[in-house]
Amino acid sequence: MGAIDLKQLLESQTLERCPFPIPVGWFFIDYADTLKPGEMRNVFVFDQEWVLFRTESGKPGMADPYCPHLGAHMGHGGKVCGEHLRCPFHHWEYDTAGWCRHIPYAKLMPPQTKKGPILRTLPMVEKYGMLWAWYHPQCEPPSFELPYIPEMEDPTGYAGTRRGTWTAHTCIQEIAENGVDTAHLKFLHGAPAIPPVEATYEGPIMKLDIGRGYIVGTAYGPGLNVMRFTQQGVTATMISYSVPITREKTQMNMSFRHVDYPEGSKELAISKKLIDHMIGAAEGEESAGFESVDFIVWNHKKYRPNPLLCDGDGPVLQFRKWFKQFYPGFEPAAQG
Ligand code: FES
Ligand SMILES: [Fe+2]
Repeated sequence: MGAIDLKQLLESQTLERCPFPIPVGWFFIDYADTLKPGEMRNVFVFDQEWVLFRTESGKPGMADPYCPHLGAHMGHGGKVCGEHLRCPFHHWEYDTAGWCRHIPYAKLMPPQTKKGPILRTLPMVEKYGMLWAWYHPQCEPPSFELPYIPEMEDPTGYAGTRRGTWTAHTCIQEIAENGVDTAHLKFLHGAPAIPPVEATYEGPIMKLDIGRGYIVGTAYGPGLNVMRFTQQGVTATMISYSVPITREKTQMNMSFRHVDYPEGSKELAISKKLIDHMIGAAEGEESAGFESVDFIVWNHKKYRPNPLLCDGDGPVLQFRKWFKQFYPGFEPAAQG
């Protein structure tokens, strides 16, 4: 019998499921057509409540709900007035950048209101028919932009209205790690073999090539991942945009798109089959979809900061090193 390594054997007792803060990045908030000019509603993402609103001219805004004046929750009784969000309590008004623009009964605006924003708001853009917010724990401005995605933005050449939303009880990093963990594709999903994977990293961008061109994916920070599946010269695309609800709960969202091939064409059939494959619904195939199997693992696993890997594993540690940049100022608790 070998020596007992107590540290190894008892380590799981000290592990956490999601030992990370909310990461930095652009995140999907909702589809753009769910928010009309002049509307506002409360949303819960990034571990807190926010007031999501759209000004009369159409600009989206997302604000911390608690008014800097006396702390009223602006999402209960507040209102969009022109280009501003108005607090119900004393009608102070804020713009989408968090500046206080109007106090109806002040002869002099408090000096602080002239220096900078006094209400935390998140930078927002509308892209791909969606509302996106930039989250940074220290409120720093965006350090990268969302890319042009022809499948979503070229109005004529692409089709596909299939999309889905799932809730995973884990953090976004654990979900994203699946991309480099190619061994699980065989054992959890039933792929015929472990596909080769090549990962390259540049700033907030990670590129993955799985199965020598079968899947070519690009991640733009933690909140957007574009994966193109190619077979017989036909490409179908999965656009995945997850958003952290809390530190331990993630909403996963995906859209599936392909070139607008004519009805009845071989290309259309291949595109549809590829999309079925992405979500694991292909009939007559062994592959099991992520919604049926990945969740069994994600919803219950713990994060091992010092995993015991083998030579057949994908570049898990490289991936983690890349992901660390999205936790500025965060030092993980010492393990062991
Ligand atoms: S608490 Fe919001 S205006 Fe006074
Ligand atoms: Fe998976």
